[in-house]
Amino acid sequence: MASDAPLVRSGRALFAVPTLLGGQAAKAGLSCASCHINGRGNPHFLLAGVSVAPGTADVTNSFFSAARGNGRFDPVVIPDLAMPGKIARGTDTRALEAFVRNLIVEEFGGREPTPAMLAALAAYVRAVRACPEGQSVGRRLADQLSAVDDGVAGAQLMIDRADLQGAQLSIAAMRHQLGLIAERYTGPGLAREREGLLAASRALQTIGEGDLARTGPALARWKDQFGAGLAKRLRGAEGRSLYDRKRLAKSLR
Ligand code: HEC
Repeated sequence: MASDAPLVRSGRALFAVPTLLGGQAAKAGLSCASCHINGRGNPHFLLAGVSVAPGTADVTNSFFSAARGNGRFDPVVIPDLAMPGKIARGTDTRALEAFVRNLIVEEFGGREPTPAMLAALAAYVRAVRACPEGQSVGRRLADQLSAVDDGVAGAQLMIDRADLQGAQLSIAAMRHQLGLIAERYTGPGLAREREGLLAASRALQTIGEGDLARTGPALARWKDQFGAGLAKRLRGAEGRSLYDRKRLAKSLR
């Protein structure tokens, strides 16, 4: 659970996009959220050469960054970011921003993040809270649609700060979420929805490659169209998709 301030939403979008991390992590489709689901831990995370047991990872592993790996295999339990940890979270020292920057560039071999991107990621990490009584629910279409909205809000914030890299990554985050939705709309009866998702993602790609000055209005139009058209159709067909718990369980059998 986290607040809905624009900076937090922007950070939440970036947290879930694999291309924030570079090299092997991005190729494997890993994002911050793969290890820290909703900013928490991930008891099921298991990657050969990176984990020693489910829920552990070695982030200083040469798997992620050949140049920077410390040469030792020392996985630890993935921490829950809702809990106080080793890294001070206060805004006075900016230790969190420095840590996240180091993680992206040094450990994962990613591209240097901009100050606005770091501010957003740190704001999100600071906002992560545990749910009351540790409740846990399956992912619904609404969660993924709200993640798409986070991407729109994040892109707008980056555009306002004239941050091209941050805006492009926010759009990549939206496309990543559309891809995750498409994975749940399998089967011949849902071909139209899948095609719609692909077309929406392509339209975003074109917007992301355009001039930053035109990106804001183009995104606003995209969002209106998406909300009035495809998002409605997806909601209507949610019961026939793998967001339906019974269908999902059956497909995994
Ligand atoms: C491969 C799994 C993995 C990925 C991907 C990952 N982390 Fe982590 N994260 C860890 C592990 C393991 C630790 C504990 C490291 C330690 O204690 O030495 C950690 C520690 C942290 C901490 C410090 C928590 C504390 O103790 O205060 C923060 C903050 C954090 N991660 C944020 C992020 C962000 C932001 C990203 C994306 C840029 C990210 N993580 C990506 C596994 C991961």
